Amino acid sequence: MQLKIDNYYVRNWQKSDIPALFKYADNPKIAVNLRDAFPSPYKPADAEKFLAIVLEMNPCTYFAIANHEEAIGSIGFMAGKDVHRFSAEMGYWLAEPFWGRGIITKAVRAVTDYAFREFGLNRIYAEPFADNIASVRVLEKAGFTLEGRLRANVVKRGKVLDQLLFAKLREGL
Ligand SMILES: CC(C)(COP(=O)(O)OP(=O)(O)OC[C@H]1O[C@@H](n2cnc3c(N)ncnc32)[C@H](O)[C@@H]1OP(=O)(O)O)[C@@H](O)C(=O)NCCC(=O)NCCS
Repeated sequence: MQLKIDNYYVRNWQKSDIPALFKYADNPKIAVNLRDAFPSPYKPADAEKFLAIVLEMNPCTYFAIANHEEAIGSIGFMAGKDVHRFSAEMGYWLAEPFWGRGIITKAVRAVTDYAFREFGLNRIYAEPFADNIASVRVLEKAGFTLEGRLRANVVKRGKVLDQLLFAKLREGL
């Protein structure tokens, strides 16, 4: 899979992405807005473990965001089970040197379209922590609708946080 976004790509992960993944993912400013399953500190072995899982995924729904040289971020979606099988949660992060350029907003739009088109999903949602203003803006700019506030739904680094529920539906629903 490869989607071109201006001078960037959303593409399949490759084993050769391990050094870039480790270099950029090892950043507490990224980890603070993600689940605890995202390691912090992020070690080379964590990058290897992630790549091993993603390279085995079939169908694969986790992708690298990349420029011509290297991977600079991650974006993916995971469909639910049972009655939630047509609904997927989206997640993403971008390497800090590339923040503020609108790259992730375009990637979210492109991957959402791809997921609706190729996976027949009805709904894609994201649940940023309520204090994650950048991610909230990304979702708004990418055409997601704020559906609600999940009060005290998270404990991150000892802080009780609300989450915001954003979703986009397949055209026609
Ligand atoms: C969330 C993340 C991907 C955003 O990346 P980015 O490169 O800043 O995104 P964009 O440039 O596409 O858009 C960011 C928007 O947020 C705005 N923004 C960022 N920080 C802000 C702040 N503190 N206050 C107000 N607006 C802010 C920017 O101005 C921009 O909006 P604009 O285009 O209207 O000016 C990046 O910060 C990241 O990787 N964070 C850590 C992981 C994460 O939070 N993942 C999402 C979990 S739900």
